[in-house]
Amino acid sequence: MTVAAECANTRENDKKEAAEAASRLLAWYDLFARPLPWRVGPAERRNGVRPDPYRVWLSEIMLQQTTVATVSSRFQQFLARWPRLADLAAAPIADVLGEWAGLGYYARARNLHACAQAVVRDHQGEFPQTEAALRALPGVGPYTSAAIAAIAFDAHAIVIDGNVERVAARFFAIDAPKRLAHALTRELLAGIWPQDRSGDFAQALMDLGAGVCTPRNPRCQDCPLSKDCEALRLGFVAELPRRAPKPEKPHRTGNAFAIFDEEGRILVERRPEKGLLGGMLGLPGTVWTEQPALPPGGAWRHAGEVRHVFTHFRLTLNVWISTASEIDPQPEGMFLPPAEIEAPTVMRKAIDVACAALPPQSQPRDLKKT
Ligand code: ADE
Repeated sequence: MTVAAECANTRENDKKEAAEAASRLLAWYDLFARPLPWRVGPAERRNGVRPDPYRVWLSEIMLQQTTVATVSSRFQQFLARWPRLADLAAAPIADVLGEWAGLGYYARARNLHACAQAVVRDHQGEFPQTEAALRALPGVGPYTSAAIAAIAFDAHAIVIDGNVERVAARFFAIDAPKRLAHALTRELLAGIWPQDRSGDFAQALMDLGAGVCTPRNPRCQDCPLSKDCEALRLGFVAELPRRAPKPEKPHRTGNAFAIFDEEGRILVERRPEKGLLGGMLGLPGTVWTEQPALPPGGAWRHAGEVRHVFTHFRLTLNVWISTASEIDPQPEGMFLPPAEIEAPTVMRKAIDVACAALPPQSQPRDLKKT
């Protein structure tokens, strides 16, 4: 056989193996797909049920930076309130931010609302179907556009989230830190990504990463891809994907002030639209700086401290309590019962610390859990 013929032969074999690996993964997904509230499972898909692009988009935005477990419980609540895209587009932004409370990364909620309005305004209320057109929508980046194109429309789009990245790093034995490995991961995945059932394939990789090809203690004996897994063959599954060392986050501190009125309600303010936690409700306080926060003078009692980790810094918030009658001049603004405040997680923690520091007879009865 000539060298050219041998190469052609090898390429054919590689293609056949790739197609077989993809089929094994899809067959595994047919048996073990997770029932998720936004998902049209493989059996329903076979019966002709098509995913609703609104649900796919909403779930993908919620799943950015938030776990499947948390989203699973909040997704239904969101849908019950705004069953269709047009309902969400017509909702006041303050309601959307309120419903988002506790999910973090609040720019997502603003983009969610802006995206719903853009689809209604510019696309007659129907999501566009290509990766490129989806990518032009607010809050829809390269991952999300690929995920919606594949899952909602079965487009041949390569979807790479953290789980998929780990499965691919091991399957192809990609021995480079994630950031450097991305282009290669994409190229290698494109070589095994099937033309049919693109959305199921993406979700099968996600489920495999979540339940079998886990970061620690992967269950290689249960993996439909183990036969061709390069890292398993070479014996270094546990070392992949390689991580670049994370830089330390800077530490900031600040004060938060909880002022109670005589009915046990707390003074809250709406944060400025621009900036961190923009437009959300919170306790008044000092700016968060890398210098230690000075204790306030006057009638303030220290209730405790709250620690919270944001994307770019760690925060220690000192929580101080007082009553409206002790503050001069009289504070003005919105006093709300603690359980009714739809606040982002860090503020919810601060409110809980403030309430816990009240004498037992003044404790509010049911604090809101987020
Ligand atoms: N993570 C992000 N999108 C997902 C999906 N559609 N199914 C499971 N996990 C996911």
